[in-house]
Amino acid sequence: MASPLAEPATRSTDRLPGSLPMGVLGLGHYLPDEVVTNDDLSEVLDTSDEWIRTRTGIQQRHRLAPEDATSDLATRAARRALDDAGLEAGDIGQILVATTTPDYPISAVAPIVADNLGVLVPALDVNAACSGFLYGLRTAAGLLATGTGPVLLIGAEALTRVVDPGDRNVAVLFGDGAGAVVLGMDDDGSLGPFDLGADGSDPSSLYTPVGGTREPTTDDNVGERRHFLTMRGREIYRFAVANMTASSQTVLRDAGLTPDDIDLFVGHQANLRILDAVAAKVGIPAERCHTTVHLHGNTSAASIPLALAHARDAGRLHAGDRVLLTAFGAGLTWGSCLLTWSGA
Ligand code: UT7
Repeated sequence: MASPLAEPATRSTDRLPGSLPMGVLGLGHYLPDEVVTNDDLSEVLDTSDEWIRTRTGIQQRHRLAPEDATSDLATRAARRALDDAGLEAGDIGQILVATTTPDYPISAVAPIVADNLGVLVPALDVNAACSGFLYGLRTAAGLLATGTGPVLLIGAEALTRVVDPGDRNVAVLFGDGAGAVVLGMDDDGSLGPFDLGADGSDPSSLYTPVGGTREPTTDDNVGERRHFLTMRGREIYRFAVANMTASSQTVLRDAGLTPDDIDLFVGHQANLRILDAVAAKVGIPAERCHTTVHLHGNTSAASIPLALAHARDAGRLHAGDRVLLTAFGAGLTWGSCLLTWSGA
């Protein structure tokens, strides 16, 4: 199969051209207290604030407390989303956690979150890396459409635990955090169209080589530090711009909308240059893009719900707004969808 990095992969593996009467009933987020600035990293790595800012737009990121794991961040964001929705955990039909950094290699985060919330409900993780929140939205839409009660979808990551703190190529990019939404049937909102895709022909452009079933950890490969996340940044950059652009355009076309109809564009917050390039190619002016990468760094599956929470706090989300979401990630995966904000 041709490399997905040579040209945009053939699309689309999952396309929901219409929209469904569903909306965000509640939104919450959690960011760890510790803030790590570019200058902090420059003290321990051969890097600089100037390099990080100009190449990525990142100024700082949050790092989780030593005693915390992904489920702790997820639970705090979930509680806030439930409060915001005015619901109890017992009202939830199913819990989804979009994450690529679970507490344990085996055993999902979502059941731990359910237990923390004091409920016994079906609970599973969705791993589509940085596209995970989009995949989670699509999964939630299917569940709601078939009668499941409100779905709690959380994007939660502890990426600082899986990058080599001594590798400047990746250590400067990532941060920790969680964002959560309660999704439910809602005549004032809508979810869709969706465009999701995946091409697994070359995962090695963005992956953790060691520690899975392909190559379990040994003293030797851990000594070589191959149990940390690695990536070929330039290839991923090109893949991200090509696929987020094409996917966003597919959603606009399926919705019968033009870029002028979009009130807010929220892309996966990996790199400001990537976001600017996608917005320019899709035709959405900077004033209708919401970016948080300067504050949070790349928080993978948490980045879009964190950005939505930040946008709402900044007064940038209003009832009836059409919000275009788009993401790319390891796998390689990508996805986009249109969300009509119903006023949560
Ligand atoms: O959620 C998905 C996660 N992944 C991504 O989003 C990654 C997408 N790619 C990118 O964002 C960019 O490719 C990067 C920000 C990772 C890198 O930017 P770039 O403009 O593509 O730089 P580069 O990788 O071509 O590296 C340029 C130079 C190299 O030095 P030489 O070979 O030119 O001497 C790197 O060694 O910059 C060097 N470099 C650094 N210098 C200072 C790489 N990392 C750093 C650093 N500080 N942290």
